[in-house]
Amino acid sequence: IKKITTHTLLKMKAAGEKISMITAYDFSFARLFDEAGIDVVLVGDSASNVMAGHETTVPITLEQMIYHAQCVVRGINRSLVVVDMPFGSYQSNSDVALASAIRIMKESGAHSIKLEGGEEVVESIRRIVSAGIPVMGHLGLTPQSIYKFGTYNVRAKEEAEAAKLKKDALLLEEAGSYAIVLEKIPASLAQEVSRSLTIPTIGIGAGAGCDGQVLVMHDMLGINNTFKPRFLRQYLNLQEQIHAAVTQYISDVKSGDFPSEKESY
Ligand code: KIV
Ligand code: NA
Repeated sequence: IKKITTHTLLKMKAAGEKISMITAYDFSFARLFDEAGIDVVLVGDSASNVMAGHETTVPITLEQMIYHAQCVVRGINRSLVVVDMPFGSYQSNSDVALASAIRIMKESGAHSIKLEGGEEVVESIRRIVSAGIPVMGHLGLTPQSIYKFGTYNVRAKEEAEAAKLKKDALLLEEAGSYAIVLEKIPASLAQEVSRSLTIPTIGIGAGAGCDGQVLVMHDMLGINNTFKPRFLRQYLNLQEQIHAAVTQYISDVKSGDFPSEKESY
């Protein structure tokens, strides 16, 4: 089996082959996605929302991210695993950032880390990369900054923010990042940024001009039917199917239909 590495992703961009990425937070789903042939599995700090039930990604801890990463890694044979550095584990200074990145790599067995931000985190990225840890960047709508933004609306619609994003993308590439997530920005801007870089961009709500796409598994599988942004393509309606299945199970238990003789010893 040929494992996906950060070098594979660079070659895919050069060859014009799109990169597929999905989030996972546990062993069972990670294994399913790996077996389906996904290129990259992201242990997203969206675990804070979809696993822990928090409203934002701010509360999830480094220990909790490491736990999810350990579970995911056990399900992976071929895909590249990238783990989000949670809020508070890298923003204060590059010593803290490096120490947190080392903990994630050492304790989880993942292949790389991701962190949010541009110029502000460039020194940290440089030091983490120098330590031998591949870094994925994340620009545009960076959810750890939700209290600064105030909303989850599209970012960089205005020229000043778009200009900073373009500059940040180049800084991230220069600092040694192997890829950059572009979240919820205009498609034209994402395409321009993608063309300006050698490293691949992976979009979410950033249009078709990116070198790859990422979706949160719960969103694309329809496990939470309340989150339906324009950028989301829902491939299943699992919420409906799970509701029907569990409703049937309850009714079978209540009626005594389950278990049958065949299901008994
Ligand atoms: O945490 C996450 O799921 C992410 C993706 C949306 C890119 O960062
Ligand atoms: Na994230």
